[in-house]
Amino acid sequence: MSGPEQAATRDNADGDPRRVIDTSVAHSARVHNYWLGGKDNFAADRAAGDAVIQAYPGIVASVRANRAFLARVVRFLAAEAGIRQFFDIGTGIPAANNTHEVAQSVAPGCRVVYVDYDPVVLLHAQALLTSSPRGGLDYIDADLRDPSKLLAQAARTLDFSRPIAVMLIAVMHLIGDQDDPSGIIRQLTAAVPAGSYLALSQVASDIEAEQMAEAASRYNRLARETQRHRSYAEVMRFFDGLDLLEPGLVPVQRWRPASEVEAGAHWAMWGGVGYKSGHVSDG
Ligand SMILES: C[S@@+](CC[C@H](N)C(=O)[O-])C[C@H]1O[C@@H](n2cnc3c(N)ncnc32)[C@H](O)[C@@H]1O
Repeated sequence: MSGPEQAATRDNADGDPRRVIDTSVAHSARVHNYWLGGKDNFAADRAAGDAVIQAYPGIVASVRANRAFLARVVRFLAAEAGIRQFFDIGTGIPAANNTHEVAQSVAPGCRVVYVDYDPVVLLHAQALLTSSPRGGLDYIDADLRDPSKLLAQAARTLDFSRPIAVMLIAVMHLIGDQDDPSGIIRQLTAAVPAGSYLALSQVASDIEAEQMAEAASRYNRLARETQRHRSYAEVMRFFDGLDLLEPGLVPVQRWRPASEVEAGAHWAMWGGVGYKSGHVSDG
C-alpha cells in the first residue's frame, strides 16, 4: 500500500482515529493480515505482529486455525443447517476462504453482509462489490459497538424474518468490557429469528495463559485498538440464551476438525456455534 500517513477515508471516520488509515500505529486488521501472510500491512503493523510472535510464537498458527474454523463453520451452516444468510461482523482484510466464497460455493444464492470499521477493509470491500455485481453481497462500514446501526443497514440485504448466521469471528477480543460485549451480542441475536445461529471465536486468556498475557500487553502498547483476552467462562456467557452445538465451546482447531492432526494442535482461541431455538417465522 502507499499514500500519505493519514489518508483518504476521513469522510467515513466519524472522528474516530481507529477509522482513519494511520500507518504510524498498528491496526488489528493489518496486523492480522501480516500474520496471515498478506501484503496490506505497514512497518508499525509488522512491529506489533512480531512483538506478539515473540511472546506467543503460536499466534500465526492460531490465526490460521481460526480461518480454518471460519470456513468449517460457514460450510456446516450452509450445507448442513440450510442457512442462506450470513452477517459477518469484523470481516477483516480478505484472506483465503472468505465467508461469501465458502457459503456461495455451497449455495450460490447465499446472501452475505460484511461489517468492519477499518478503512483498508473498506477499500477491499469496495473493490469486491464492484467486481461482483450479482446481488446478495453487501458491506457496511460501521462500528460493532453501534449494533442498531448495523442492524438497520443490514436489512438492505438480509431478510430478518428468515434465519441468519451472525458471525463474530476473532473480533470480540477487540471489544472491551466497558463497551458491554454481552449487550452487543444480545442485541444482535435478539434481532434475528428463531432458527438463526451465532458463530463466535475469541482469543483466550486461559490457554497458554502466561504467554497470552504477555502477548496482550505487548500488543496493547503498540496498537490502535487494545485487546481483551477472555476465559472459557467469559466466552461461554456470550452464548447465553442459545443452544450450543456439539462439540460446545472448544479451541477453534477442535471444532469439528477435518483431521486428527488439526485437532491435536494447541492454539489459543475459543470457538463455538450457538443455535436460537423455537419456531422459524414464515416471513
Ligand atoms: C482479527 S481481525 C478478524 C478478521 C476475520 N473475522 C477473521 O477471523 O479472519 C478483526 C477485525 O475486526 C475489525 N474490528 C475490530 N473492532 C471492530 C469494531 N468495533 N467494529 C467493526 N469492526 C471491528 C478489525 O478492523 C478487523 O478487521
